[in-house]
Amino acid sequence: MINIMLSGCGGYMGNVVTGLIENDSEMNITVGIDKFTTEGRKYPVYSSFSECRESADVIIDFSHPSVLNDMLEFAVSKKCALVLAVTGYTDEQNEKILMASSEIPIFQSGSMSMGINLMKTLIKKAASALGDDFDIEIIERHHSRKLDAPSGTALLLADALNETFEEKKEYNCTRCGKDAKRKKSEIGIHAVRGGTIVGEHEVIFAGLDEIIEIKHTSLSRNIFAAGAIRAAKFICAKEPGHYNMDDML
Ligand SMILES: NC(=O)c1ccc[n+]([C@@H]2O[C@H](COP(=O)([O-])OP(=O)(O)OC[C@H]3O[C@@H](n4cnc5c(N)ncnc54)[C@H](O)[C@@H]3O)[C@@H](O)[C@H]2O)c1
Repeated sequence: MINIMLSGCGGYMGNVVTGLIENDSEMNITVGIDKFTTEGRKYPVYSSFSECRESADVIIDFSHPSVLNDMLEFAVSKKCALVLAVTGYTDEQNEKILMASSEIPIFQSGSMSMGINLMKTLIKKAASALGDDFDIEIIERHHSRKLDAPSGTALLLADALNETFEEKKEYNCTRCGKDAKRKKSEIGIHAVRGGTIVGEHEVIFAGLDEIIEIKHTSLSRNIFAAGAIRAAKFICAKEPGHYNMDDML
């Protein structure tokens, strides 16, 4: 049995992960961490890692970037594996995550969805075939509560596209104004926010007289929760290191 500590257990994703693990015979949530929702769970919930005296095999984190320092300190001291699903980390935070991965196994992905990871392969193939003749723009759409923009998935897709170019393209997330003509050297990334949209990502390859669009739509949060659970099973017996979807799939 794999014992899970669920960080952000009171949030939207925390609820879905809790529900899926209740029906999983290989896993058990033994403890939760959440600053604002500490009641109504079948497992004990602490408001921070510093208050928690318990441990687990794997921490799954669907909380907030501000939790990172305490969580890394906790995970390293208890030799706990970590599945990081949170998005919106700064470069400095990503550096800290890499450093901690020399001591514990860490799985990190801006998208835990299998479909998005297939989309990554498809858009890389398209970018290699189309080269610089096509302009690439990404449109992502999410619910109005989302804190970070562009989404972690949009950045993951842009990074995948950039792997195919010898001269790396800049990300333009702020096109606006009277001097906003598109440059050949950029990938435009546009964030739409509204209502309860779970998540949509569209990559547009716009060329001379033809357009190719590759799109993924998330219809429920189950796909992200299921991906994070699969990642926890994958990582729990791994050596220290930094792992992602490519390693798992
Ligand atoms: N990688 C993926 O596939 C994927 C998919 C969906 C969401 N996410 C990311 O997961 C995160 C959570 O998403 P959500 O929609 O469940 O958000 P949410 O706001 O519903 O849930 C976040 C939870 O974290 C708790 N929290 C916030 N700050 C905290 C703190 N300092 N200490 C302890 N608990 C704290 C909140 O109380 C809340 O219950 C976001 O970063 C989101 O972008 C990633």
